[in-house]
Amino acid sequence: MDISEDDRDPGPEPTIGQLIERRLSRRGALAGLAGTALAAIAGAAARAQSGSPSSFTFKEVPHVNDPTHHVADDYEVQVLIRWGDPMLPGAPAFDPHKLTAEGQKLQFGYNNDFLGLHPLPAGSTSGDRFLLVVNHEYTNSNLMLAGIGEGRDARLRADQPQTELEMAAHGGAVLEIAREGRRWRVIDGSRYARRIDANTPMRIAGPAAGDAKMKTSADPDGKQVLGMFNNCAGGETPWGTWLTCEENFYFYFTGDQAKHPEQALAKRYGIGRTIAYAWGKYFDRFNFEKEPNEPHRFGWIVEIDPYDPQSTPVKRTALGRFAHEGCHHAVAKDGRIVCYMGDDSRFEYVYKFVTAKPWNPNDRAANRDLLDEGTLYVARFDEGGAMTWLPLVHGQGPLTAENGFTSQADVVIGARRAGDLLKATPMDRPEDIEPNRINGRVYVALSNNGARKPEQVNPANPRAKNDHGHILEFAPKDGDHASTGGTWEIVIAGGDPAKDEGTKYNPATSADGWLTCPDNVAFDSKGRLWIATDSGETAGIADGLYACDVAGPGRALTRQFFAAPKGAEVCGPIFTPDDRTLFLAIQHPGEGKGSTFETPATRWPDFKAGEPPRPSVLVITKKDGGVIGS
Ligand code: FEO
Ligand code: CA
Ligand code: CA
Ligand code: CA
Repeated sequence: MDISEDDRDPGPEPTIGQLIERRLSRRGALAGLAGTALAAIAGAAARAQSGSPSSFTFKEVPHVNDPTHHVADDYEVQVLIRWGDPMLPGAPAFDPHKLTAEGQKLQFGYNNDFLGLHPLPAGSTSGDRFLLVVNHEYTNSNLMLAGIGEGRDARLRADQPQTELEMAAHGGAVLEIAREGRRWRVIDGSRYARRIDANTPMRIAGPAAGDAKMKTSADPDGKQVLGMFNNCAGGETPWGTWLTCEENFYFYFTGDQAKHPEQALAKRYGIGRTIAYAWGKYFDRFNFEKEPNEPHRFGWIVEIDPYDPQSTPVKRTALGRFAHEGCHHAVAKDGRIVCYMGDDSRFEYVYKFVTAKPWNPNDRAANRDLLDEGTLYVARFDEGGAMTWLPLVHGQGPLTAENGFTSQADVVIGARRAGDLLKATPMDRPEDIEPNRINGRVYVALSNNGARKPEQVNPANPRAKNDHGHILEFAPKDGDHASTGGTWEIVIAGGDPAKDEGTKYNPATSADGWLTCPDNVAFDSKGRLWIATDSGETAGIADGLYACDVAGPGRALTRQFFAAPKGAEVCGPIFTPDDRTLFLAIQHPGEGKGSTFETPATRWPDFKAGEPPRPSVLVITKKDGGVIGS
């Protein structure tokens, strides 16, 4: 999102004890990484003679930064759907000069991020028909709205109809899609098609439902809320529902932080610290001086049943409130569901939620409220590669009334504060966290953290001023995702090995294969890792999608498969089960300084005169119909 890093939540203050501990651990961690960077140079020379040890055979895309996308030779890109394309009956054709909230509610939303595939019919393995679920994270008003001018402040200049349009462009979409040869099309008039936006009625469930901190003048019971927004990445449950994750919700609320009645919460969650939208100017619920509890009703995991377009989305508060990036699951040995989640702000934490009961594969309805009961944990990564999951349970350890936690509702609403008290490890912006079904390990994308000072490094975040991020891999103890122990290591540390200190790659990684700012991760059916990036332009390169082995001689050898158009990040990578189609969500093309509706940095994907760029979902196939990446 195009919010300055300085506007993000500052994170917890480290204690003196933590600072000393980190200083001691830093030297060892950095020494190891620097050694690898030197090995990379020697390795590149060796590769020129012996060929790449990677299992991927595509020709790498060079590092570029230009108005269009690039994919590896022998692959083809199809635009599946764009912002503004009609989706529901009565939708107007896209006309960027005649945008309305009413039209937008029937059209594909803005800034597609997470993509999920749910097979049709439900539970089938056909692979040719799916419900595609899509998050619409946020809006670039400077690129959406004619005449609004440049910069992220454009949003603050939006009038009420423009604000209502923005609200309608947020949220999510459900589309029915079908494969025809190598191409895919969206089914017009599908009975499943649905738009969800910032005003869609939702139910609040779990420990925070009905709590005093969740009650507002519009909802005196604290059990219903209008809408979701800033939904970044997501996941799916084994019973076929969509988990969509509210990330930077605090940018949408107006007011003076000092006037919020819950000071500890307001400060820890950055409420009022950065006001990015004008929503509070026109709607009282977004003005926390008038409705102080409304911000507590955002920052949750939302569960949606894509197979039932009439279903009410449910905010599952047992999974905690923070700047949720994604929510991918694994099944524990006893059948309980384990959801992995990152809080994407600087110095924030990695979490998991373990359901109280196993899921029932034979009775979908029996899983309906499974995510309302269970244990939320926060991660501590220790020196020497051990890790511990610390339970965030009211009444246990410091999570007592004495410290401001009178119930589990307090714990989940203030999950960040609970994590502080348990001394969780402050990370470099945890983005997507995804278990690899082939090797049983879990991969954490840590995007970057330019604010980390030398005295703030820790074993799992060993670089000060970490502008390029890293990828951490962990193995749950005994291969059981419900275990509270495990081991971890850093697999990749981003940046250009020729320029940046402390990078870590397979020594055979090419000059086109290094990456910066990992965000979304995905696996193909062989368990190979695909990494999408966000913010490459800060290192002078387009964002991209990189393919990487996690085992064998090609481990940690990243190769660039796709490069995004100028200003865009790459989101939502997901493969069909046969690995022959890859879907990508290209978000915020043309974002950046000086770029406007009238003079955008790119008019991708259609390059039509007078039209702004349009965030779009892409279909990528191999021209010979083969497996992607091969
Ligand atoms: Fe919306 Fe954390 O990226
Ligand atoms: Ca993201
Ligand atoms: Ca993912
Ligand atoms: Ca991101």
